Amino acid sequence: MKIIGTGSAHPTCAVTNQMLEQFLDTSDEWITERTGIKERCVISSEKLEDMAVIAANQALENAGLTAADIDFIICSNVVNEYVTPALSCIIQGKIGATCPTVDINAACAGFIFAMDMAEDKLKCKKAKNILIVCAEEPSRMVSWQNRSTCVLFGDGAGAAVVTEGDELKAIRLTTSSLTEVLYYQRSLEPTPYISKEENFEPLVMKGREVFKHAVTNSCRDIRKLLNETGLDANDIKYYVLHQANRRIIDSIRNFLGVDEEKVPHNVERYGNISSAALPALLDELNRGGKLKKGDKLVFSAFGAGFTTGACVIEWAKE
Ligand code: ACO
Repeated sequence: MKIIGTGSAHPTCAVTNQMLEQFLDTSDEWITERTGIKERCVISSEKLEDMAVIAANQALENAGLTAADIDFIICSNVVNEYVTPALSCIIQGKIGATCPTVDINAACAGFIFAMDMAEDKLKCKKAKNILIVCAEEPSRMVSWQNRSTCVLFGDGAGAAVVTEGDELKAIRLTTSSLTEVLYYQRSLEPTPYISKEENFEPLVMKGREVFKHAVTNSCRDIRKLLNETGLDANDIKYYVLHQANRRIIDSIRNFLGVDEEKVPHNVERYGNISSAALPALLDELNRGGKLKKGDKLVFSAFGAGFTTGACVIEWAKE
């Protein structure tokens, strides 16, 4: 596959650390030092599907394609206001596509899981152009009374159009069932037959454990991919990493021994927007003219599950 277009969209309501200080026992200093986050954009009046559609249309335009050219849509999403229909069905209708669609939930690693699925579809010639849209609203999963979690997240969407090509050089996915370190249990409708006790809780996260898994697993994935492709860490133009926390990003960079300018970040402006973080950052690099044809990029992300995904791609656009 190769990536031929990118797009992104963020909500208009930017919540600064100072705004959080007004209703939480927290401080700009604590949040900045522990996470690097200064503000996050959270959904207020807009709908997640609208941001997904903006990101998708931008990616199509950037690819020089229309919705009619798309053969398959993969939407990565953990939560939105509908359990069914899938968000990808809503996006399909709103952009005017007619192809089949599917939603996946690989948490924050969703973009790379979607790339892997797209690569398989392209390889077996079941599709020529695939739209990947990652749209997430983790601000609706956390308790806004819990300072340990709500300060970390923002909402948004990122999208990419991929087509046939030889630019995906290596990809690696992992799932380890570590469900207790990060989860969100949603309420279901009662039935006359349910007598067991059920817990419905906002997002629960064991921060330190997540931190450790994130750094260890991402470093392992990236090293394996560099080995597999015969590339040196410094051959990579940019490491486009999941934007969860500046300290996690810096730890991965230090372990890899690469310079700061190779590891772009925007977590300070958007917080953690789950699987949308990686394509949204990629879109920023693309639109900022930072990517040249032939550049080697590493993508790496981790999330609840515990899932990880990483890949090496060559940038295909002029
Ligand atoms: N403001 C002020 N104090 C706070 C806040 C806050 N927002 N949040 C927690 N604290 C307090 C705690 O209550 C605790 O106080 P105590 O010592 O009196 O009990 C103290 O700060 C230390 O808490 P820790 O949780 O131990 O702090 P830590 O240094 O581990 O930092 C953090 C917490 C930032 C969550 C860190 O563990 C982390 O970054 N983990 C990874 C989180 C992450 O990236 N998650 C998402 C990845 S997966 C995905 O994207 C879905």
